[in-house]
Amino acid sequence: MAHGLLKGKRGIITGALNEQSIAWKVAELAHAEGASIVLTNAPVAMRMGEINKLADAVKAPVIGADATKDEDLDKLFQESMEKLGGKVDFLLHSIGMSPNVRKGKAYDDLNYEWYKQTLDISAMSFHRMLQSAKRTDALAEGGSVVALSYIAAQRVFPGYGDMADAKALLESIGRSWGYYLGMEKKVRVNTISQSPTMTTAGAGIKGFGGFYGFAQEMSPLGNAPAEDCAKYCITLFSDFTKYVTMQNLFHDGGFSTTGVTPGMMAKATGEE
Ligand SMILES: NC(=O)c1ccc[n+]([C@@H]2O[C@H](COP(=O)([O-])OP(=O)(O)OC[C@H]3O[C@@H](n4cnc5c(N)ncnc54)[C@H](O)[C@@H]3O)[C@@H](O)[C@H]2O)c1
Repeated sequence: MAHGLLKGKRGIITGALNEQSIAWKVAELAHAEGASIVLTNAPVAMRMGEINKLADAVKAPVIGADATKDEDLDKLFQESMEKLGGKVDFLLHSIGMSPNVRKGKAYDDLNYEWYKQTLDISAMSFHRMLQSAKRTDALAEGGSVVALSYIAAQRVFPGYGDMADAKALLESIGRSWGYYLGMEKKVRVNTISQSPTMTTAGAGIKGFGGFYGFAQEMSPLGNAPAEDCAKYCITLFSDFTKYVTMQNLFHDGGFSTTGVTPGMMAKATGEE
């Protein structure tokens, strides 16, 4: 049931690659809640064509932009304002990729050129995006920005590799921009630290099934599905969270503050 939470709002949603993508679910729900949106992804990802299905369903134009290129981002914001008929009320950064993780390079054996790409694509792109939004004066007063993170920013999860460093940087960038954009335009900036979720980016992580199962066992509410992450994003884009900013918000079924669970104890002691 829709509530009109985003009625009259304009937004940009990055990162919808396929139906599993968290951004895909956010786009569907933003549309259902009354927003007008622009979809964007890297040109190489758009060639796969899936995004057009979503664009039809949510009546959104698609503008290609590599999030590591300033000129692409400037064009994205300028064209989005034209197509949406005004400044942008909300923005979702849902972008992550590590060549090291993808190619199985462990944290103690990183390729540094790939490490730079990991940080550029998965974290610095968030800074670039907000700097471009400022340069093009694209954000509306009182707007809301959300980026998606993971708890490996705070705790070690072997297998998540250099993405852990990217997420730590992403969260810090969110806090810093939250200050600047808050002072300037009352725009709030938050990161959501989401449970492991079965998506293309998730499945690319070595041992993802283990991560997923462990978090499931260690979360009183269980792992949060992508659809529920989308719901949380919508609340942050809505006017019901106008004073929430510069936070890293866990959306993880309680995983981040659970010490141990009976199920995990039973597994550890072999008494299942
Ligand atoms: N899946 C999980 O377990 C999980 C958990 C916590 C956080 N996250 C985060 O959620 C976000 C979305 O990931 P997802 O799980 O939906 O997977 P996904 O693979 O569907 O989305 C990742 C997106 O990043 C895009 N991308 C990569 N390089 C880009 C570039 N240069 N420019 C623009 N876009 C680019 C991809 O095309 C893709 O659409 C990521 O930041 C990810 O780290 C995922």
